[in-house]
Amino acid sequence: MKKGYVDVVLGLQWGDEGKGRIVHLFSKDYSLVVRFQGGANAGHTVYIGGKKNVLHLIPTGILHNNTRVAIASGVVLDPEVLAHEIEFLESEGVKVKGRYFIDYRTPIVFPFHKKEDGLFEEKGGIGSTKRGIAPAYRDVYQRFAIRAGDVLDKKHFESILKKQIEFNNAVLRHFGAKELKEKEVLEWFDRYRWTFEDALCDVSLLIKDEIENGGAVLMEGAQGTLLDVFYGNYPYVTSSHTILGGALIGAGFGHSVVRRVYGVFKAYVTRVGKGPFPTELNDENGEKIAKIGDEYGATTGRKRRVGWLDLPLLKYAIWINGVTHPVMTKLDVFDGFLRVNLAVSYEMSGKQYEMISPLTSLLERVSPVYESFTDFHGIKYARTRDDFSDGVKKYIRRIEEFIGIRIASISKGREDNLI
Ligand code: IMP
Ligand code: MG
Repeated sequence: MKKGYVDVVLGLQWGDEGKGRIVHLFSKDYSLVVRFQGGANAGHTVYIGGKKNVLHLIPTGILHNNTRVAIASGVVLDPEVLAHEIEFLESEGVKVKGRYFIDYRTPIVFPFHKKEDGLFEEKGGIGSTKRGIAPAYRDVYQRFAIRAGDVLDKKHFESILKKQIEFNNAVLRHFGAKELKEKEVLEWFDRYRWTFEDALCDVSLLIKDEIENGGAVLMEGAQGTLLDVFYGNYPYVTSSHTILGGALIGAGFGHSVVRRVYGVFKAYVTRVGKGPFPTELNDENGEKIAKIGDEYGATTGRKRRVGWLDLPLLKYAIWINGVTHPVMTKLDVFDGFLRVNLAVSYEMSGKQYEMISPLTSLLERVSPVYESFTDFHGIKYARTRDDFSDGVKKYIRRIEEFIGIRIASISKGREDNLI
């Protein structure tokens, strides 16, 4: 019997690499698409028939009728956001009910988490999306999180919720904010529990069944490698594991079922929120890239910071994730540019580095060493890589030579095919 497999799509930069579009293009070939980490902080933008769709929680795979989708235990689930997403999709004619699954173990994001996240930011946080992500994961490690499956045992549910509210109210008091009453939290919860009650299952075992039946499973990563809570640019990170290891932990499967790791990166770099950014552009090139690339946050609307592609960090991300298939996106943004820079190493205290750990203390001290490329035109109209202008070909070749892997696919237009 033919055995199935798992492929993973994840971000190699600071999120917003265009994973949503890549997953959308790929997912027709998968029977199950799974989100394994993060929460409603993610914003996956997909254009269909010129119309912009942003999904925060439901895997982008939902847009293909034959694909089922799942939210695994590594995600933190805000049922209010999920409710709006389901209603929005159904109103657009996408059937959602009956096609999505949620792991019993998925922790719930409550209104007090979101409130705290906002207050922490006001007092000088790290630039979070204020979706309650960090406080929700904290409660998991504190071992009093409410997980989706807890609704099955009313007594147990009420006793942990009591503990969780008590603790979180103490946090709100610390910030001088109004506490939440148990009654209002319960009312909120009752309004949205339908979103997961009928969808509960063991997603790890769902994946197992799928593979045993010869199915193809796609893991849809959110955020990016440099935002990983352990291996990213701490403390300017999100609170989950955005890397390959995060998929294994967050969805519950072993490495031997993994076939491909697609690592998505933009032809340049963007970052939302605070933290060092060695190749950041604060000039007209930066403005131009942001404008042409429409670099505004899909979740928060914040303007994204923009910089040249940074190979020392890209190489790190490829290593950490064991990427087998690099995917470059948004190359068309450079169409008509007279000069494009590429950081090929870092200089620090008179020494050169080809790869670097994204520690804040290092990233604040390095200066990128650039190579320049010219002759960027006709990118949008290319049908194969042979059609690219010489400058574009050289740019691609230089990246491939540096990372030591062929770029598997290139995206150069919102609705075009990959080449
Ligand atoms: P949090 O995940 O809301 O706690 O935010 C932590 C950091 O991750 C901030 O710098 C956010 O801007 C960033 N971040 C979180 N989610 C995304 C995303 O989907 N795309 C880009 N940046 C993100
Ligand atoms: Mg995004």
